Amino acid sequence: MDKTPFYLQGNFGPVDDEVEAFDLKVEGEIPEYLEGMFLRNGPNPTRGDPGHWFFGDGMIHATRLEGGRASWYRNRYVDTASRRGAPAMQLTEDLKFDHTVGVSNTHVVSHAGKILALVESSYPAELDRELNTVGPLDFDGKLTTSFTAHPKVCAKTGEMLAFGYSALPPFLTYHRISPDGTLVQSEEIKVPGSTMMHDFSVTENHVVFMDLPIVFKAEQVTSGMPYQWDASYGARLGVMPRNGSNADVVWMEIEPCFVFHPMNAYERDGRIVMDVVRYPEFMSGGPFATDAGELWRWTIDLAAHIVKEEKLDDRATEFPRIDPRRECLENRYGYAVLNGSGKGLSFEGLVKHDLERGTSEVHNFGPGAAPSECVFVPAGPDAAEDEGVVMAYVYHEDTNASEFVVLDAQNFSKPALGRVALPQRVPFGFHGSWSPDPR
Ligand SMILES: [Fe+2]
Repeated sequence: MDKTPFYLQGNFGPVDDEVEAFDLKVEGEIPEYLEGMFLRNGPNPTRGDPGHWFFGDGMIHATRLEGGRASWYRNRYVDTASRRGAPAMQLTEDLKFDHTVGVSNTHVVSHAGKILALVESSYPAELDRELNTVGPLDFDGKLTTSFTAHPKVCAKTGEMLAFGYSALPPFLTYHRISPDGTLVQSEEIKVPGSTMMHDFSVTENHVVFMDLPIVFKAEQVTSGMPYQWDASYGARLGVMPRNGSNADVVWMEIEPCFVFHPMNAYERDGRIVMDVVRYPEFMSGGPFATDAGELWRWTIDLAAHIVKEEKLDDRATEFPRIDPRRECLENRYGYAVLNGSGKGLSFEGLVKHDLERGTSEVHNFGPGAAPSECVFVPAGPDAAEDEGVVMAYVYHEDTNASEFVVLDAQNFSKPALGRVALPQRVPFGFHGSWSPDPR
């Protein structure tokens, strides 16, 4: 029997080479307003079995678009100390985690003129626009904790809100970064234990922390995955003003569950509306055991301090995204990957939700074709929400090859606007974003 773990097989498995190709052939059309790079991060473990899908060295796959052309594709490792052989987890002399070493394999975002490759155990790793790694970013020495892979850039103010969690105290620290990239506030947030806190939500005035029951177990450190499902920990949401501190956090109990990714959150009529991909349990049967995640809505009553929990959609889904101009503000549309079988990871198509009407549309790429996370890019700064394109890498099992695909968001289920065959496959990975050319 093949004992090779799933994350080293098929399109989860790594590619061997860093390659680049120029002036790629476009089938169909790429809108001329797309001037920038589509960036996608994910693990590419070529130095042996890292022990879990989450732990492989980060690799960025970038497709550059300009004037309707796909002018280049390039894949590059994020060149951190861990990539060069340092253990991804190590302690400094004063027995703190060394946040400069990590695999930086989870997300890649732009803020204040910098491109940041992110993993939740480390500082951001700064990249240049050729994908060279500049080095770890500690915000002029002000950042002293790890940094989530899912910071939120407020569409209204340009502030970047973030946090870091740790197996060692302080378990949770909140960070606020000004629009010009200065770390202006760090606050320790008191929680009962160390939980795997992958993401959080931000609204116009508040942040929401998710303290959910995947709990650090010291005795599991040698197993490779020290975080385990433990429903006895309970589950709670912590709401805090964006410039608040621990004393301002209001914690509200919810049903035990796990959430990697909120789609978005916003305020309406004295409530916070928070749409999330919710798992009733996660890793309860070991580090690779997953239930299906489904789209749920939490409505947090800010006066009564209660959370209403309701399911919005029965289909298994992951990687929810929105128009970045609606981040922290009310959104009508959301885009996500459909997880075909409902068990494990089997990416089957993309779905667009109209959350106002409660309807959705599906884009299926055909038999044996599997999309990774998609990203929405507006047609221009004044375009309406959903007026623009959705882009993603799509893997074709029959040819063992990948394409870069652009869909018209407003004709979501119609054939793609443009497709670009890539010089090598793009393994299934995690998250990415559109980085427009600097002006
Ligand atoms: Fe994530």
